[in-house]
Amino acid sequence: MRPSILVLSLLPLLFGHALSLAQNFDLVGYAKDNPLGPTTGGLGGEIVTVNDTKSLKSAVKGDTPRIIHLSGTFNLTSRLQIGSNKTLLGLGPGAEILTNGLTLKSVSNVIIRNLGIRFILSNDAITIQNSTRVWIDHNEFESSLADGPDKYDGQCDIVRASDWITVSWNYFHDHWKSSLVGNKDSLRDVDTGHLHVTYHHNHWRNAGTRGPAGRFGHQHVYNNLYEDFRYQAIHSRSDNQVLVEGNVFRGQMREALSTYGLVIPDDSPNTSPEGDWEIDGFANLGVENDWGGAGVNVTQTGNFTETGYGYGITALGEVEGVVREGAGLGKVGNWTGFG
Ligand SMILES: *[C@@H]1O[C@H](CO)[C@@H](O)[C@H](O)[C@H]1NC(C)=O
Ligand SMILES: *[C@@H]1O[C@H](CO)[C@@H](O)[C@H](O)[C@H]1NC(C)=O
Ligand SMILES: *[C@@H]1O[C@H](CO)[C@@H](O)[C@H](O)[C@H]1NC(C)=O
Ligand SMILES: *[C@@H]1O[C@H](CO)[C@@H](O)[C@H](O)[C@H]1NC(C)=O
Ligand SMILES: *[C@@H]1O[C@H](CO)[C@@H](O)[C@H](O)[C@H]1NC(C)=O
Ligand SMILES: *[C@@H]1O[C@H](CO)[C@@H](O)[C@H](O)[C@H]1NC(C)=O
Ligand SMILES: *[C@@H]1O[C@H](CO)[C@@H](O)[C@H](O)[C@H]1NC(C)=O
Repeated sequence: MRPSILVLSLLPLLFGHALSLAQNFDLVGYAKDNPLGPTTGGLGGEIVTVNDTKSLKSAVKGDTPRIIHLSGTFNLTSRLQIGSNKTLLGLGPGAEILTNGLTLKSVSNVIIRNLGIRFILSNDAITIQNSTRVWIDHNEFESSLADGPDKYDGQCDIVRASDWITVSWNYFHDHWKSSLVGNKDSLRDVDTGHLHVTYHHNHWRNAGTRGPAGRFGHQHVYNNLYEDFRYQAIHSRSDNQVLVEGNVFRGQMREALSTYGLVIPDDSPNTSPEGDWEIDGFANLGVENDWGGAGVNVTQTGNFTETGYGYGITALGEVEGVVREGAGLGKVGNWTGFG
């Protein structure tokens, strides 16, 4: 479907600088419109509030629908394995997850909102593996660039035929390898035909690579703000397809978008000092992007021109302000479900 550019570009005329008041934070994209049905998380299940690790671990287990309100800081001693049909919502200004991250493995229908996920060691902040219908919204992800690309792993990695995912309004910052979609050559056949992800209205700041880097799948990347995304922001390789539109790039940035298969040495792990070779991906450009002077290397135009769902595009001139204002923690802390 075509974006409703007209409607949203009229909003500033109506609301002026109060535009943010009119922001609609409802679910949009592949986690909503897909063949399996919209992501609803724990909707209809009991609501439990947790403030310690033991209660949190027990609340996220199993397939029973449950809405889990997280209060305070959770310094996890092992990864949190999240079951199907769950909503995790950090209350008020947001809850904090430290040291160990979240795993969604072979599950479906999960919503994660308003969590600050920081300094996660030895693994990703969030791993989504062989899982469908996931909405990652209004979270903050943070570590540090100081110790190179391999001290921390991904912030939100989506692998092994995972599908129908929306990653929206998150603040990803101070981290090297942000978001990898499709992680292994040997899984080409497993992954191909899956890995449909919508990334919209995310704020990336001071990052290294993978904003996102996709292989074998389809990602719709629109209305994101990239600030000082140093080496390579959007990378589409190994026959992956991206539809890239209405994004804004600012600051120090070598490459905003590439479909050239070479995995640059600044990414990691690389087995060769020149980087690792993969075959190229594809990119299509929808409504105009503001590349901010960063490089764009589209070696192959693909056929991913329509997403199959409806979505509102924020006018290019409004993206920077709208994303700064609307992304990250403390914006949805009193959200009580749908409608
Ligand atoms: C944590 O939750 C329990 C049970 O709801 C409550 O009794 C306790 O006061 C809470 N502790 C803090 C520090 O909020
Ligand atoms: C979190 O726990 C780890 C040990 O698992 C500890 O080293 C670290 O200092 C703790 N962080 C905070 C903020 O308490
Ligand atoms: C959530 O609601 C409570 C009670 O109405 C209010 O005090 C608090 O400020 C609200 N928090 C946010 C983030 O809107
Ligand atoms: C993937 O998840 C499904 C459940 O949705 C499960 O039946 C299947 O065994 C899982 N496959 C792998 C390889 O883990
Ligand atoms: C929850 O998830 C499971 C596995 O994905 C699914 O089979 C089941 O129908 C769901 N349960 C409810 C009550 O919605
Ligand atoms: C862009 O892609 C071409 C291959 O089509 C490659 O030769 C060139 O080095 C790439 N440019 C950069 C800056 O990576
Ligand atoms: C889109 O392009 C890919 C890569 O060339 C190709 O495999 C696929 O069949 C094409 N799909 C359609 C619907 O044309």
